[in-house]
Amino acid sequence: MNLSDLRKEYTRHGLRRDELSDDPLEQFRQWFGEALEAGIVEANAMVLSTAGLDGFPSSRVVLLKALEDGKFQFFTNYESLKAQEIAADSKAALNFFWPELERQIRIRGVCHRLPESVSDAYFRERPRLSQLGAWASSQSRIVSSRRALEDRMAALEVEWQGRTVERPGHWGGYGLEPVEIEFWQGREGRLHDRFRYRQLAGGASWAVDRLCP
Ligand SMILES: Cc1cc2nc3c(=O)[nH]c(=O)nc-3n(C[C@H](O)[C@H](O)[C@H](O)COP(=O)(O)O)c2cc1C
Repeated sequence: MNLSDLRKEYTRHGLRRDELSDDPLEQFRQWFGEALEAGIVEANAMVLSTAGLDGFPSSRVVLLKALEDGKFQFFTNYESLKAQEIAADSKAALNFFWPELERQIRIRGVCHRLPESVSDAYFRERPRLSQLGAWASSQSRIVSSRRALEDRMAALEVEWQGRTVERPGHWGGYGLEPVEIEFWQGREGRLHDRFRYRQLAGGASWAVDRLCP
């Protein structure tokens, strides 16, 4: 396998400033809608990067579950590695890559826990097995075996039998409030189109700049 032979030209779309909304969240909604229309599998999967406690950046995929009140919402375990990192430094980044559309979106911002009522409402919507999984998994901790996890799950099924599974206190959502959002459209000859929105002081408006690819 010769990785240097892997090469794809991007020719599907261009991107002009006059096509872009002045509001990056509106622009995100438009691109996200187009990703859904294009049938992209798990278009809401995004890489979340946090500042690692040891100075190494730390990345993993999570699912975007809502974009509300200007915040990108995701749900997780509040004792996980990512949660510990966010507690130490709330600055984080999100990245979406939709290869079928030759598009990337980069977002930088600050994470806050969502109100408990929001986490409760989303937890209620989850399939029962996922609800039990939130109890069973001490996310990011060492576990002795697969069997240990399955045993824990089986015990929880008995414990919650015939009852609505409540949200564990260690599980809930975050909202990432963006300060910067970049829309990237792949173009021929690697002359890609990039537009970066930066929030201006006061937060009500955004500066938009075209960046070199
Ligand atoms: C497609 C996909 C979606 C995922 N969605 C989530 C999610 O919404 N929440 C979550 O906590 N982990 C999700 N994960 C698992 C995370 O990538 C990660 O393994 C887990 O959150 C532990 O990360 P941490 O140890 O850095 O806290 C997802 C993984 C993949 C591949």
